[in-house]
Amino acid sequence: MSQFANRVEVMSELAKNMDAYVQEYLNPIESNWQPSDMLPDSTQENFLNEVKLLQEAAKELPYDYWAVLIGDTITEEALPTYESWLMAMDSVNQVEDQGQGWVQWIRSWTAEENRHGNLLSTYLYLSGKVDMRAMAVSTQYLIADGFDIGTSSDPYRNFVYTSFQEMATNISHRRTASLAKQHGNPQLSRMCAQIAADELRHAKAYRRFVSEIFKLDPSEMMLAFADMMKKKIVMPAHFLREINGQKSSLFEHFSDAAQRIGVYTTQDYVTIMQGLIQDWEVEKITGLNDAAEKARDYVAALPARLERLADRIKIPELAYPFTWIA
Ligand SMILES: [Fe+2]
Ligand SMILES: [Fe+2]
Repeated sequence: MSQFANRVEVMSELAKNMDAYVQEYLNPIESNWQPSDMLPDSTQENFLNEVKLLQEAAKELPYDYWAVLIGDTITEEALPTYESWLMAMDSVNQVEDQGQGWVQWIRSWTAEENRHGNLLSTYLYLSGKVDMRAMAVSTQYLIADGFDIGTSSDPYRNFVYTSFQEMATNISHRRTASLAKQHGNPQLSRMCAQIAADELRHAKAYRRFVSEIFKLDPSEMMLAFADMMKKKIVMPAHFLREINGQKSSLFEHFSDAAQRIGVYTTQDYVTIMQGLIQDWEVEKITGLNDAAEKARDYVAALPARLERLADRIKIPELAYPFTWIA
């Protein structure tokens, strides 16, 4: 049983440690990498030459790779949606917290994340391969549409979501990094790898928050975890649409492309889930109420069940013609 009356109390208990969390899991702004560190410098005379080289190297990347990189970039660019969603969690109060506690975390995390979309979209603009207008329309739709990820304003469910999602982005940026390298593009590879490293730090932070909540409020945390796993983690890009505005199956096409080139697969979903179960030592957690015991057993059995399903999924072989790719 928890000694805390509710989630808000648990969250403010955790927030007492906020300075330490920020220091451990986020980088100081002055020494952090910035997009310009990895892009041609337009104040320099050799700028156009560097852009030419960047465009030459871009020609080597396959069609599906562009689809995935653009979809990933649009996902990063929808950051306003994620920040406003997290700010609306119970226990976060922008006015009263005066930039302390969870408000401090969300702002600083957002400030790091903001570099990802900035770096990737500048690269895409320079690459000569992308219809920037089509991409911008998709981005504007995604932000205007917003999302519902099934967490409501519950911080426990939200931190399960972010733990999962940061791992998923770590994997996909890591894979686009190694594919870029294989296609002779060390510059792009470095960009994706830097982003992947950020995502991993963020994943560790959110996993830590959940671990701490498990100590303070085990039954409620377990129920929240099981509930999110039951609902399935919906990728933010799930709500993507294209320039004609149709609510099409664009996300499926994007996801198929990612599966075809092995950037993010159904197996990865299962692997992330297994990682979280291990990391939180879910099977060892005791002191749970009856409902939470059932939830624990449900979660523990889930990866094996999903693995059997993953084997049966067939991916279409043909690429879909995205409006984003010039
Ligand atoms: Fe990101
Ligand atoms: Fe992230």
